[in-house]
Formats: sequence, C-alpha cells, structure tokens
Amino acid sequence: MEKYLNGKLISRRNFLDWLLGTSFLVSAAVIGIPYLKFLFPPSKVMEESGSKIPVAKEDEILRGRAKTVLFKNMPVLLIHTPAGFVAVSGICTHMGCFLKWDDLKQQIACPCHKAAFDTNGAVIFGPPPFPLPSYRVEISKGRIYLGGG
Ligand code: FES
Repeated sequence: MEKYLNGKLISRRNFLDWLLGTSFLVSAAVIGIPYLKFLFPPSKVMEESGSKIPVAKEDEILRGRAKTVLFKNMPVLLIHTPAGFVAVSGICTHMGCFLKWDDLKQQIACPCHKAAFDTNGAVIFGPPPFPLPSYRVEISKGRIYLGGG
C-alpha cells in the first residue's frame, strides 16, 4: 500500500517511519518543554542577569493600602506606607499560610493562627518564629520593580 506525503508517493514502510519519527519528536517536545521551563524559569534568568522585575504601577496602590503581587512565583505584599513602598513575603513564617493586609489596623494579618506583622515584616504577636523576608523596591517612571529576596 502506498501513500501520498507532501504530494509525493511513498511506500507504506517509509510512511510508517515518517509517522513514528514525527510522533517521537512531538512526544519529546510535549514532555521536554515543561522540564526545560522548570530548570530555567524566566524570573531566575532575569535575577541572575541583574534585572529588576516590574510588578505594579506606582499609582495603583493608594497610601495605606497593599497589593499582593507575584515575584519569583511567590506571593509578595507590596505595601504603600507613609514612608514609601515596602515589599515583604506574603507567606507566614509559622506554617506557610497566605497573609493579608489589614487596612484598618495597618498591619499584615495571618488568618490561620491570628498572627500579625508590621509593615517591615516584624512579628507583632502570634506564633510565627521569624520576621517576614523583605524585598528591594525600586520605582522608575511610575513603575514599581522588585529585586533581591
Ligand atoms: Fe500564620 Fe500560623 S500560619 S500564624
């Protein structure tokens, strides 16, 4: 039995060889690309090259408010304090719960065990054993960039 491929007449054996080779390449790409993305994440490449990562616009976070942004695939609380912007980890150092900004109390709250942190990430009360890691904040042309961590 013969088949046409790209307008050419080919034998059944050649067609099956072509089909097997194409299937192998597609399978390798489907399996291999996620592994490559895992091994070489874009944010890691940017960090190693000294780049800063834009996370928000300066005017989108009012003073006294905060926004959760992603940095290195982790949540970070970007807080607009009276002294400027600060950024601390959005994950509690106790058992890893996601933190929230409390507008009324002007502090970071952990809903899991009722802990609280100040805007610099220091523990105010509750069981967390360590302060929150902080990140370098830079502002340029109305955009907020994070670095370090
Ligand atoms: Fe935050 Fe326990 S996980 S206080």
